Amino acid sequence: MAFPVHRPRRLRATESIRTLVRETALAPDDFILPLFVCPGENVKREIGAMPGNYQMSVDRIVEECAEVASLGVAGAILFGIPETKDETASGGYDDQGIVQRAVRAIKREVARLIVMTDVCNCEYTSHGHCGKVVDGDVDNDTTLEWLAKSALSHARAGADIVAPSDMMDGRVAAIRKALDGEGFARVPILSYAAKFASCFYGPFREAAESAPQFGDRRSYQMDPANGREAMREIELDLEEGADMIMIKPALPYLDLIRQARDRFEVPLAAYQVSGEFSMIVAAARNGWIDQPRAMMESLTSIRRAGADFVLTYFAKDAARLLG
Ligand code: PBG
Repeated sequence: MAFPVHRPRRLRATESIRTLVRETALAPDDFILPLFVCPGENVKREIGAMPGNYQMSVDRIVEECAEVASLGVAGAILFGIPETKDETASGGYDDQGIVQRAVRAIKREVARLIVMTDVCNCEYTSHGHCGKVVDGDVDNDTTLEWLAKSALSHARAGADIVAPSDMMDGRVAAIRKALDGEGFARVPILSYAAKFASCFYGPFREAAESAPQFGDRRSYQMDPANGREAMREIELDLEEGADMIMIKPALPYLDLIRQARDRFEVPLAAYQVSGEFSMIVAAARNGWIDQPRAMMESLTSIRRAGADFVLTYFAKDAARLLG
């Protein structure tokens, strides 16, 4: 029996009823804010392609994190812009590196905020690739050593969670082993398990000054056409010891967020990446879209698809809107 007995509009009549039957809720503690830390003092430089996002020196990042925490946002994930870059990404695993210093300062001043670190080499190599380049391609197994050293130095600095984003094979196992071997068995790994070679990272590469100087990342990041392979990547990372998994980007890959939610019993994150953010802001600045509504609708959709939490440049704005 359908219409006229069934009238779904009955439950849409008022905001109170809509609220009562709403299936997906957003809360500030669903969000992680990506932050870019740079050398210097009192530096806060806006990123052209990402309005409202900044490269900040350690002192300013600490201030920012205090505000982030006061809004109820769950945490921040740090990306570093080092003073110098080299062939061996040495700035990435230096205990005095930019991210390591930022982590120590934040954990000292804003202890309750979750501090995640992005573990990758592309911000630290002179060529902008995510690992050691041999014959024009990234060499997997050497790169694992750099990643393990980076994760370890982040843990030593006090990072709450390390998040490898490089897409080398075997990185989760290498990082787990390094952490456990040095007394950091309690530090969880959030693996960017299914990370695609996406054009939506464009604005980020300006923010992190990490665009590859030659070629692209398609020999290590995934082909956007491959959903089954994404599930296999997740399975492998879980076997290697990942505690949590991530799908990245988010909105163009909602189908995979849903599949992963249905298949794996671990916390699932999604990364609403720089291009997803910048498209909404750019359209809003042109008067073509309502920014707060586009922000909330996209975040709701990512949660509805099955993500437990979302890495998003909208974290502060959305938290403010949620009150
Ligand atoms: C590092 C890394 C990237 C992003 C997160 N970690 C860039 C890339 O892989 O090129 C992208 C994040 C964003 O676009 O917001 N490998």
